[in-house]
Amino acid sequence: MDGRAVGVFDSGVGGLTVLHECLVTLPHEDFVYLGDHARLPYGPRPLAQVRGFAREIGSFLEAQDVKLIVVACNSATSAAMPQLQSELSVPVIGVIAPEARAAVQATRNRRVGLLATQATVDAGRYGDLVHALDAGVELHSVACPRLVPLIESDDPYGDATEEAVREYAAPLKDAGVDTVILGCTHYPLIRPLFQRVFGRDVTLVFSAEETAREVSDTLARKRIENDAARTGVYRFLTTGDPAAFREMGRRFLQLPIADVEHVAVSRLEGAAA
Ligand code: DGL
Repeated sequence: MDGRAVGVFDSGVGGLTVLHECLVTLPHEDFVYLGDHARLPYGPRPLAQVRGFAREIGSFLEAQDVKLIVVACNSATSAAMPQLQSELSVPVIGVIAPEARAAVQATRNRRVGLLATQATVDAGRYGDLVHALDAGVELHSVACPRLVPLIESDDPYGDATEEAVREYAAPLKDAGVDTVILGCTHYPLIRPLFQRVFGRDVTLVFSAEETAREVSDTLARKRIENDAARTGVYRFLTTGDPAAFREMGRRFLQLPIADVEHVAVSRLEGAAA
């Protein structure tokens, strides 16, 4: 039995969709979630910079004595996964491998689409993982720079979002994909929009549930689970404004958010030094 918390991080609140599934799957575990709002968004930044941010946060969470780290951000997973796993002493789980696996299993015509941030598309990790599982799958990737700001706006389900989804979906529909990876933590929030645009015959893949299952399996296999009879607690850290985090976070977590603590970026930078 291991009473330490699980660490989860993202550039902002998008990773709360992953935390949501972890809290439902593992109600007896404690979690600490860090949102790096001061440096959001990661998606348009160069990969080396995103990798640097992820390494700082990984070291910071490790110093908080977490027992496992979930990188609940597709851009950070794409940019930094091998480095985080080799540098940190605790297990690190990302959100890309579970989605790549689910997409390869789901596709019938072996044409898969990927919608993601620019950083995630540039990193090319989905292609590597998909082709490691099935070298015959065609992966069509589309960067969607307008979606994260729209989903975080006051009107996430408005006309502008629908228009952007239709524009980004068009090349994937032309390519005849039967499976689309929603490769960004924000996208599950507008899943019905994607499903309507692509139609019922296209399978949408996103990783929150698969990632939570991987966290659960890893804790069990490494025998670092907490007592199953207890009720876990969860807390939040942000490099941005705690009140804004609480307000926006509710929409993503769909569970209560109590205290949110501010952490200065300089503390993260210090952790990696
Ligand atoms: N969390 C990021 C991701 O999943 C999206 C937000 C951002 O660009 O920072 O790629």
